[in-house]
Amino acid sequence: MAAGNLIDGRAIAGQIQNEVAQRAAALRARGVQPGLAFVRVGEDPASKVYVGMKEKACAQLGIFSETRVLPPATTEGELLALLAQLNADTRIHGILVQAPLPRHIRETVVYATVSPQKDVDGFHPVNVGKLMLGDPSGFLPCTPAGIDELLVRSQIPTEGAEAVILGRGNIVGKPMAAILCQKAKGANATVTICHSQTRNIKEHCRRADILIAAMGVAKFVTADMVKPGAVVIDVGVNRVSDPTAKSGSRLVGDVDFEAVQPIAGRITPNPGGVGPMTIALLMQNTVRAAEMATAAKS
Ligand code: GUN
Repeated sequence: MAAGNLIDGRAIAGQIQNEVAQRAAALRARGVQPGLAFVRVGEDPASKVYVGMKEKACAQLGIFSETRVLPPATTEGELLALLAQLNADTRIHGILVQAPLPRHIRETVVYATVSPQKDVDGFHPVNVGKLMLGDPSGFLPCTPAGIDELLVRSQIPTEGAEAVILGRGNIVGKPMAAILCQKAKGANATVTICHSQTRNIKEHCRRADILIAAMGVAKFVTADMVKPGAVVIDVGVNRVSDPTAKSGSRLVGDVDFEAVQPIAGRITPNPGGVGPMTIALLMQNTVRAAEMATAAKS
C-alpha cells in the first residue's frame, strides 16, 4: 500500500514537542518549571491510558506533572474543592480533568470551576467564548487545535475550502468548526457540521475538500463518501470486538482506512495521526500557561 499520502501526525507532533521542550527549558532557566495537574475520577480504562500517555509526555519535555485519582463515588463538591486547591497552587500552571466523569458530576460545572488561566483543555466558558470571538488570548481545545496544526504544517489549504465535520461534541466537533470558520490563517473555510440527525449525510461528505470524522462510529466513512483527492482526518477511537486479537478486541477509527486511502488526497493514519497531536497541543498549552503566569508576575 502506498504510504505517499499519509499525514504523519507522529512526526509533526515531534516537531511541536521539540519547540515546547525549548520553551520549557527557557522557563526553567528563569526558575519556573511548567506544571500540569491531571485529575481522574474513577477507573475508566481508556482514561487511565490517555492520562498515562500525557504524564509520559510531560516527563519527556521537562514539565512537572501530578495526577490526582479520585474514587468513583467522589461528590461534585469534593471535586470542586480539589480544583479550588489546584487553582491556588503556584506550582501548577495547567489543570486537566479527564472526561468522561461519573454521571452524578456535572461536567459543565467542573469545567467552569477550573481557572480560565489554567484551562489548558480550553473547556472553560471564557475560553470557549474567546474561540468563538476569534480572541487569541484564550486556550484552544487540544484535539481540534492539533488537527488545524496538522493541516497548516502539511501545507493543506483551508482558505475557501469546504470543510465537513462529522460530530458535534464539545471536545472536537463544535470547536473544530469554530476554529475553521474564523477569519484567520489556517482557517477561512466554509464549514458544515453533520450529526446523527443530518439528512443526506453522504452528499455532504462528498462535497468536502477536508473531511473530519469525529463522531465515534467505527469505520463510518466509506469510500463512496469521499471526493477523490479530499483530505481525510480520522479522530475516532472505537473499541470493536476481534476474536483474532489476544485481548479479544482492537481499536479502529471512524474511517474505513483501507477503502478510503486510495481515493483520498491526504489521510491521517489511525493510530499515528490525530492522537499524538492532541498530546503535543496539551504540552504547548501548558507551557504557554506557564509563560503567561510568569509574564503576569514580572
Ligand atoms: N476525553 C477525551 N478527550 C479529552 C480531552 O481532550 N480532554 C479531557 N480533559 N478529556 C478528554
